[in-house]
Amino acid sequence: MTDLVDDVFSAETADKLALIEQRLADLAGADTPFVTEAANHIIAAGGKRFRPLLVVLASSFGGEVDVEALVRAACVVELTHVASLYHDDVMDEADLRRGADSANARYGNSVAIMVGDYLFARASSTVATLGLDYVALQAETFARLVQGQIAETRGPGNGDDALAHYLQVIADKTGSLISTSAVFGGMVGGATADELEALRAFGEEIGLVFQLSDDIIDITSDATGKTPGTDLREGVATLPTLMLRASDDAADAALVARIDADLADEAELASVLAELRAHPVIEAARAEVNRRAELARGHLAVLPEGQAKDALLRVCDDIANRVS
Ligand code: IPE
Ligand code: IPE
Ligand code: MG
Ligand code: MG
Repeated sequence: MTDLVDDVFSAETADKLALIEQRLADLAGADTPFVTEAANHIIAAGGKRFRPLLVVLASSFGGEVDVEALVRAACVVELTHVASLYHDDVMDEADLRRGADSANARYGNSVAIMVGDYLFARASSTVATLGLDYVALQAETFARLVQGQIAETRGPGNGDDALAHYLQVIADKTGSLISTSAVFGGMVGGATADELEALRAFGEEIGLVFQLSDDIIDITSDATGKTPGTDLREGVATLPTLMLRASDDAADAALVARIDADLADEAELASVLAELRAHPVIEAARAEVNRRAELARGHLAVLPEGQAKDALLRVCDDIANRVS
């Protein structure tokens, strides 16, 4: 577990997360040792378990919590997330995930895609035990997630605003599932309609902040368990590079040209990354993360005071601090 989680641990939260951890491994079991191994590969490699944590924290706003339902709801969102990572690493040709070989690097693209589908099927059978409301929201969420991934791959259309396109992509590919994690928690805990709406809006915003910060870290950090500069290499637009493209400075235009050229060469990628890290667009993107983290905090205002709300506020701090 990372600091993101450690900081908000209470003993109760830790117990619930431990149950979820065990169930994730069980749910990834399959009919053959090979599929069991391949489906557990990325789960066992770690990860922050941010979405399960949100389910657990958000479940505290209603009455008594049915722990079995909580465990299942948390597994649904994490399995959906992990399934999307199997597919994302094929799309992004990524070799590293959670500090381990990506599934595509280890088993090849075809197996990685099918194992992602297998994990999604496991999420589907689990969500079916929770009820139709959960199934409907999970299906809508996955539809948004894949449309976000497709929109990112295709890029903005002619005449589309590149920044607006990017913000829609990250809301759909990442904000959707993070928002649903918060809502699932509220549903399990029996939150009121107003509280569910607050959790939904909070999740959307903090999900956006999460991806914005992840995109900055792709440039600035060597310690993500992923290969730095993957977005640059794959030509994926992110806030810092969109800001750079909007500049009319000649040196910035030269850097954009290098980003748009082939970055397969390690030394060239490292040199472009070094230049970007020192560029003011990183600071500007950080400011946007902080601005939006404050918006996310604002959505929590209607929720009752207490440890769960404090923990969600700490989550906002931790995510904003990832880029500081
Ligand atoms: C990675 O998600 C993909 C994004 C949406 C940025 P996480 O950053 O939650 O990845 P893990 O689960 O901790 O590995
Ligand atoms: C991942 O987006 C989003 C989903 C898996 C839906 P990215 O491609 O930006 O995330 P990383 O950097 O590979 O984790
Ligand atoms: Mg990726
Ligand atoms: Mg991607």
